[in-house]
Formats: sequence, C-alpha cells, structure tokens
Amino acid sequence: MKVAARISASLALLLGSTAMAQDGEGLRSHEEAEAMAAATLAQMDQDEQIALVHGKMPALLPARERSDGWAIGAGWVQGVPRLGIPPLVETDASLGVSNLMQMRDGDVATALPSGLALASTWNVDLLREGGRMIGSEARAKGFNVMLAGGVNLVRDPRAGRNFEYLGEDPLLAGMLGGAQIAGVQDNGIIATIKHFAINDQETGRHVASVEMDEAAMRESDLLAFQIGMERGDPGSVMCSYNRVGGTYACENPFLLDQVLRQDWGFRGFVMSDWGAVHSTQAMLAGLDQQSGDQIDARRWFSTELRPMLDSGDMPAAALERAAGRVLATIYRHRLENWDPLARTEIDYAANARVAQQAAEQGVVLLRNEGAMLPLAAGVQRIVVIGGHADIGVPSGGGSSQVAPVGGFRLNEAFSNDPMRSFARRVFGGTPPLDGLRLALPDAEISYLDGIDLQAAAAAASQADIAIVFADKFATETIDHPDLSLGNGQDELIAAVAAANPDTVVVLETGNPVLMPWHDQVRAILSAWYGGQEGGTAIARVLTGAVNPSGHLPVTFPASVEQLPNPVLPGSDSPPADRAARAIYGVQADVLPFDITYPEGSDAGYRWYDARQIEPLYPFGFGLSYTTFALSGLEAQGGQQLSASFTIANTGERAGADVAQVYVRREGRARRLIGWGRRDLQPGESASVTITADPRVIGDYDAESGRWVVPAGEYVVELGNSATDIVASQTVRLDRQEVQP
Ligand code: BGC
Repeated sequence: MKVAARISASLALLLGSTAMAQDGEGLRSHEEAEAMAAATLAQMDQDEQIALVHGKMPALLPARERSDGWAIGAGWVQGVPRLGIPPLVETDASLGVSNLMQMRDGDVATALPSGLALASTWNVDLLREGGRMIGSEARAKGFNVMLAGGVNLVRDPRAGRNFEYLGEDPLLAGMLGGAQIAGVQDNGIIATIKHFAINDQETGRHVASVEMDEAAMRESDLLAFQIGMERGDPGSVMCSYNRVGGTYACENPFLLDQVLRQDWGFRGFVMSDWGAVHSTQAMLAGLDQQSGDQIDARRWFSTELRPMLDSGDMPAAALERAAGRVLATIYRHRLENWDPLARTEIDYAANARVAQQAAEQGVVLLRNEGAMLPLAAGVQRIVVIGGHADIGVPSGGGSSQVAPVGGFRLNEAFSNDPMRSFARRVFGGTPPLDGLRLALPDAEISYLDGIDLQAAAAAASQADIAIVFADKFATETIDHPDLSLGNGQDELIAAVAAANPDTVVVLETGNPVLMPWHDQVRAILSAWYGGQEGGTAIARVLTGAVNPSGHLPVTFPASVEQLPNPVLPGSDSPPADRAARAIYGVQADVLPFDITYPEGSDAGYRWYDARQIEPLYPFGFGLSYTTFALSGLEAQGGQQLSASFTIANTGERAGADVAQVYVRREGRARRLIGWGRRDLQPGESASVTITADPRVIGDYDAESGRWVVPAGEYVVELGNSATDIVASQTVRLDRQEVQP
C-alpha cells in the first residue's frame, strides 16, 4: 500500500497535475490517516511535535535558514525528516500562486480573475477547474499547502477584501468555495478554507469584535463555511484575526471546538492567520498551528510553549492533539515522503485558457440600451479612455495578489504605512486595448489616459463610440472610505458621455460602486479584476465573440445610506495607542471596537428585501446578448422542498443563462435555494431541478442546537435576479429538524 502510494505520488509529480485524483486513490480515510498519525506520534519527542505546530514566514528568515531549496511562500512548517514527515510549504491564495514582494525573484503564475468575478460565473465546475489549475501550479512550484478557499461573506461593499471572496450569499459562496477547494486538493495538496470567522472587513481587523447572535452567525457566515467544507473537504481551516463575541477567533472555543469539531466533525487542522495568535492557551481552545510566528508578539507555540509543558501548565496531551491533527492531515493527503525539492514544468498556455474562460464568464453586462453591445462589426472610430487599458487590467492588493505570466506593467505602492507595504496597485495581464485591436482590425482605435477631461471629451466627440475603463483599487488591510469610483472618474465618464451618447463604461473594481452617470451612458460592463486574461475577455465580450453570462454575486447599492451600517464600523475609531498595542499586538492600528451587523443573517439582498429598499443593481442580475425565457415552475413540498423549471434561449445567439430559485416565508426575507446555469443554442431549452438544503430555508435554533424548518407555507420563486421574479408557487412543508 505504502509503496503504491509513493509510486503514484511521484507519477503525479511527473504529470504535474491531476494524476492524484485520477489514479483512484484520492484522500486516505480519516481512520487510516489517524491511525498512521498515532503510530508516528508515538515515535516523536516533544521537540518534533513542536516542530509541527508552528510555522515561519520564510521571507523573514535569515538566508542561511532557508537554504534547503524548498520554495519560498507565505509559510513554512518544519517537518520531521527522520520519520518521513515533510515540511509544509505554504503559498497564497485563491486566485493563483502569489509571489508577494517578489519573494521568489521573477517567478510568475497564472492569475485567475478576482473572487467576485469567479462568483459571477455561478459555475461550480469552472471553480473546480480553476482550483485544480492553481493547485497544480502550486504543486509544480514546490508547495504542498495552498492558502486558498476564502468564503467570508460580503456584508459591506466598502470592505477591502471582498474582491477575494465569493459574494454575499452563503449557499453561493459555500458551493463555489467548496468546488475551488476540491479542485486545489485534486493535486494531492492541502487547501485552507479561510478566514474563520466573520472577518468581513479590514478596518480594525486585529482588534474588532463581531457581536452577533448565534443563530445569525450559523445562518450566514458560518453556513458558507459549513457548505464549503462539506463540498470541498479542506485539510485545513485558517482562523481569522478578529474577535467574535469578545474572544479572538484563533482562541475561540465556540468557533474552534463547538462549531468546527463537535458540530461539523472537522478532522483536519486549524492554522492561524499570520499574526493572529495571542496566547499559548489558544491550543487548548482548538488552534493547532501558529503560522508565521515571527510576526506575532511571541512564539506562543514554540518558545512560550516549551516551559509551559515542562511546568505542566500545558498538558502534553494538548500538544499531542494538535501535532496529531497536523500529521493526520499529512497522511490523509498522502504527503508523507513528499519531496520539497521536486519541481515540474507548468503548461502556462493551457492554464491561461482556464483563466480566460473564468474571466469571460465572470463579466457582467449591467446595461445595454438599444443593443449598443456587442460593438457593430463595421464600427470605424473608437476611442478607449482611462483605466490603463493600454497596459493591462488591475488586480486587488495584498496576500492574494498574483504576479501574472508576463509580469506587471505598473506596480506602485498604495500606502506609506509599512504595515501595508503589500497593498500594491498593479496592472498586468492582457491589455483590453490590444484585445480590441485584434478583434476589430479595420477600426481606428485610439487611446487616451483620461487625465485631461477636455481632451477625452473632444476625442469622444470625434469618435463613433467611446469606451471608458474605470478602475478602483481594493486591497487587503484597507477598506474603501466610500462607494465612489474616485480619482475624478465620475466626472470623466460624465464629460465623455456628454460629448458622445454612444459611451460604454467598463468597470474594473473589487466591489460594487455608485454610478452617478448611469443614465447618460448606453452600456455598462462589470469586469471586476479580470486576471491574467482579463483584457482579452473584456474585448471578446465587447465585440461579441463571447456572449456575457455573468450574474452579480453582490448587490450594488444605490447609496451608502442603503447599507445596514451607513458608517463603516470602526472607521471613526481613534488610532491605537501604546496601551492598545501592548494588548492587541503591533498590528493593532485603531482602538478596539465592536462590529454589530444590523442585518444579522440577512446579508446582502436579504437586507434589501426585508427593508423593501431598491438597490442600483440587485444580486443575481446580469444581461445577455440573447434572450431567455423561464417557464414551467413546478415546486414540491412535504418532507423536502424541490423545484423544476425550464430555461429557453429565445434569441438569436448562443448564450448561457443563470436562472435562480428563491424561497420566502412569512416574516423572513427571500433566500436563494439554488440555480441552474445552462449553455443554450438559439431555440434550445433545458430543464433544471433543484432541491433545497433545509439549512438554507430553515432557522437555526441555538437552544436546541438544531436547524428547524417550520411547518407551513413557503413561496418558491423563479427569477432572473433577487428582484426580478417571473413565477412563483406556494407549497406546504412539513416541520423538519436537522443536526448542525
Ligand atoms: C492573510 C491571509 C494569508 C496570510 C499569509 C494574511 O495577511 O489574511 O489570507 O493567507 O496573510 O500570507
């Protein structure tokens, strides 16, 4: 058995990608992996066990300590070579193998589009394929842990890290995140679902405490994790920086023990976020591994742990439990004897096709007055303005930022704060301008940077069509102060649209934005951060080679006043003083504060529904160059709620639709229970059946620790978005109770 495992592991390395999944071995059972871990643990001394429960940030290690040839990424956990236990060599993140601050000189990787672009595809298979692709690159570059699988919910469209995540709905985020994790792990490496939990904004992430009742947590953020973990089966969970109910997430027994272990039966290991540990006791609460320990105030799980073990203040069993979980995960993923020096070739051309497909399916067509798009084949003069469309597409900043194949063409610091040095505003990947020129060889296409408004308006007035690219940088560690595009871009778009009514706006943002010029332009695309093939994807959508099929995974509000928290929590909190830093760590930037989310479990569209507020664009919205008709809704109640319906392409072009099914009941906001994404030729139709997960339609009862679906009437709704419902049917459901 062992020999076979070793042979297939080297085969997988040779083939570079999915051989592990295809050879039929997959993951070892928990029982087998745990038995192997117990046997190995029994041969280890305490120093060897300690080696498994703390990690380093390789970039901060002196050169002599990282001379073994293993890959330099976000983290490194020493193994126990004498027992065949390899080091854990960790890399960020969900959008590709990052190379932050050039820690691997000149190394590049295939960059997927941002999380919100991926989520706009609503395409579970594509997320899996994307995960498989980035995981194969991680493995080929010498990593065996990928810090990929961010499923924090979008609660506030000003949150700086939303671009990494998968939207505002727990079912959508959980299903897509789970698919991505499974894809990464298809390569025989470990994926990490993160950031557990409710780390839904950057402001005060090291000090803030989320105050939310248990039912609301279980029905929203925790449900996204729960579904993601069921679908993806990640080997690791990363606990987050923030506090929940006053206790740090990384030492929170409710999150790490009650929810994760007891209720959800998680058997992998919990690693901390980088700089998120505040005590050695965190181990007792359920934290198994301190990551990048140089940036915490103390080396809680090594230097501090040792004397506590000696004095008996920390039971040896706690260390054995944590080290045992890390070991069992290594065995479960068949990583014993993994060679950290092995490298394989990467087929970047093939991987670019995955990135391009994701970027194309992630573009959302928001407005298309008078069928302005796709651009007519005979269009003569086009002026492209702004957004650095001549050099590439933007990407979000922070740990998830991928240096794409071809490198960055603009790379500048966004903040002078040394704690935010990795918040870099970059542009790279395929330039939209090149894509347009390739697609429309006979047109005269000029480019202006848009800084001079008058020049832009003058050029627009001379052109048949003006295309304005508007970008807004988003990054880990910094939230947006507001929802505007900024940098004078609203004025630019208004000036261009006044000069030429045939104006198209391409938004390249990490979040929803306001659009004061909305009614003045003919067409609007949300292309998010398009990743390495973003420019090609945008050009192909604009010119009709690709029919847009993206649907919003987040609500676009009409104003900041519509948000549950019109003032971003903590944005008015004074800077941290020395006393606060002593308690909360060097990364504490503001004084501690509580975050209350008035929407509770009704994040995103549910809030708008419950309050009867009309957003600028609803969750689920997205236009196409063809037309679709939804019909034949038939819902069933009783023990289990299900619905079937038909999607037909009633237009002239092939295209894909994302039809959505929601449920509402008296006193509760509308909830997404499923969707069908179908590629259809003109005239073709397809039938879709979905079955509701009782946890999505039910309530969490904190008293009994169960989900309860109350008996009664449920309105099943079929729609094109969370506000465009085309058919509904009322069914009766029996009462149902489900264990967490
Ligand atoms: C981020 C994590 C990331 C880690 C390692 C942290 O700043 O919150 O998402 O995996 O750094 O780079």
